Amino acid sequence: MGMQKAIIFDLDGVIVDTAKFHFLAWRKLANDLGFDFTKEQNEQLKGVSRVESLKKILNWGNMELSEEEFNRQMGLKNENYLSYVNKMDKSEILPGVPGVLDYLIEHDIPIAVGSASKNARTILKKIDLHDKFNVIVDGNDVTKAKPNPEVFLIAAEKLKTSPENCVVFEDSVAGIQAANIAEMTSIGIGEKNVLNEADHVFADFTEIDIDFIEKLLRKEGK
Ligand code: G6P
Ligand code: MG
Repeated sequence: MGMQKAIIFDLDGVIVDTAKFHFLAWRKLANDLGFDFTKEQNEQLKGVSRVESLKKILNWGNMELSEEEFNRQMGLKNENYLSYVNKMDKSEILPGVPGVLDYLIEHDIPIAVGSASKNARTILKKIDLHDKFNVIVDGNDVTKAKPNPEVFLIAAEKLKTSPENCVVFEDSVAGIQAANIAEMTSIGIGEKNVLNEADHVFADFTEIDIDFIEKLLRKEGK
C-alpha cells in the first residue's frame, strides 16, 4: 500500500465564485484611477496574488504608482472586496461541492484548502466550511505565488502525505501549473481549452461522480 491519498481544493472559483467580487472591486479601482478593463482581462487575474494582480491592472492602464500609493490602493480594493465577502453565506457554495466534501469526510480522506487569498479563512467561515478541512494554507502562509507550487507543497506536508498522493482541484491556469510542478494530480474546474494542461477537466462539480473520485483514491501514486 502506498501513502494515504489527500485532496487539496483551491477556494476562489472552485468552492465559491468570488471571482465576480474580485472583478467588481478591481474594476472600481481601475475606474477611480481613470481607466477600465474587460472580463476577458479579468480571467488573467484568477489564482494570481493581490500584489501581482494590481501590477497587471496598472500595466493595462499604463499607470505607475509610488510604493505608498500602490499599498493604499491594495488596501482600498480589499476593503471594497470584503464588503461583498461579508454578505456571503453558505448558499454561495458552488453546486456539487457539498456532496464531494461530504463523501471525502465520511471516508476519512484528508482534505485541505490551498489558496492564494489572504481572505481564505474569512470566506471559509462565512460559508460554514472552515472546520471541515483538516488543513488550510492561504496567502498568509506563502511567499511565492502560483504557478510556484509552494502553497500545495506546504499543504501536502501538513496533510502528512507525499505530493504524488495529492489531488488538486483548481480553476486557474497558474494553479494547474503549480499542481503539475508539484507532481500532484491536477483536476481543472472550468473550460477544457483554457485548462488544457490539467490531467482531467470538468465544467463544475456536478459533473464529477463518486465513481471518478473512488478511482482517483484507489490509484497508486500520480
Ligand atoms: C485568489 C483569486 C485571485 C486573488 C487572490 C488573492 O487566487 O483567484 O483573484 O487576487 O486569491 O486574494 P486576496 O483575497 O488575498 O486579495
Ligand atoms: Mg481559483
